[in-house]
Amino acid sequence: MKQALNVAITGAAGHIGYALAFRVASGAMLGADQPINLRLLEITPALPGLQGIVMELEDCAFPLLNQITVTDDARTAFRDCHAALLIGARPRGPGMERKDLLLANAQIFSAQGKALAEAADRNVKVLVVGNPANTNALIARANARGLNARNFTAMTRLDHNRALAQLSRKTATHISAIRRMIIWGNHSATQYPDVSHCFVDGRPASKLVERKWLEESFIPDVQQRGAAVIKARGSSSAASAASAVIDHVRDWVRGTPEGDWVSMAIPADGSYGIPEGVVYSYPVVCRGGDYEIVQGLAIDEFSRSRMQATLKELHEEREGVQELLG
Ligand code: NAD
Ligand code: LMR
Repeated sequence: MKQALNVAITGAAGHIGYALAFRVASGAMLGADQPINLRLLEITPALPGLQGIVMELEDCAFPLLNQITVTDDARTAFRDCHAALLIGARPRGPGMERKDLLLANAQIFSAQGKALAEAADRNVKVLVVGNPANTNALIARANARGLNARNFTAMTRLDHNRALAQLSRKTATHISAIRRMIIWGNHSATQYPDVSHCFVDGRPASKLVERKWLEESFIPDVQQRGAAVIKARGSSSAASAASAVIDHVRDWVRGTPEGDWVSMAIPADGSYGIPEGVVYSYPVVCRGGDYEIVQGLAIDEFSRSRMQATLKELHEEREGVQELLG
């Protein structure tokens, strides 16, 4: 039996946390032979509700679930943790813009970055889900001195999966036959879902769908999908977000499928002309517990302008939280 890995979930009593904890405990994220210690972090008033979730986790009798810790102290949650899933934040409600949440949530991620630096395993893999996710990841990273800066990522896998689903429906092709989708930039309405390098059943997607559909339906629909779910459900996507967390961390730790790549928001390194200082979504290949940006893709004028537009928004978000970046 392998040694148990410590997985922290913040906001564990929330909608995403509830959909996520059971799947992590079942082995869906780190593998069917990997025991898990779950560290569940919540704000103090949510702890009684979280105890109910603990009861349910126990009642599942998951063979891989070694230990559960419930706490309202970030250092306790992050002590020696190997994976930190930072979900806890105030979600956007109907009619709210993501920017409205920027400052309130920024404080949470600055404090949690410091707590990670104090307590976590030196190679902890961090996934930020709480919005605005890219900028929150930037803040956590800036406050987590001593940790591997490359390991601070934000989630655009839900957008990636949404784009796959849209293209699958449009081309009447099973999702498993679609390869090399890309989400560039911010997890927001400025993100750029790009099918320029995508293959559907071995054929270039650009040859199968009209430009008009891409520009007038596909791109805006993927960009606005989160808002559409909020409008329909009255709260933001939860089960699909939890599923995307599983996908993101599973592929990061266990590798991406041969011949394909995934989208992850990671610290920009200058690739594709995106300067350092933002957390930007790129196509990446994962091997051996690490990721590499896919290099050398041709970028046309249309794509370049979309990639710059989402970069501009990330710069604006960064301006709004400058004092928390140290
Ligand atoms: P929710 O309100 O149901 O749950 C959030 C939980 O976080 C609550 O239980 C709350 O008590 C807890 N919390 C608040 N502050 C905390 C803190 N400082 N420490 C620990 N826990 C804290 O919200 P949700 O639906 O689970 O969504 C969570 C976040 O994820 C939101 O910011 C939402 O916008 C975002 N989101 C991101 C994506 C993505 O693709 N990146 C997708 C969906 C939702
Ligand atoms: C989503 O993409 O579903 C969420 O990020 C939407 C939101 O703003 O909570």
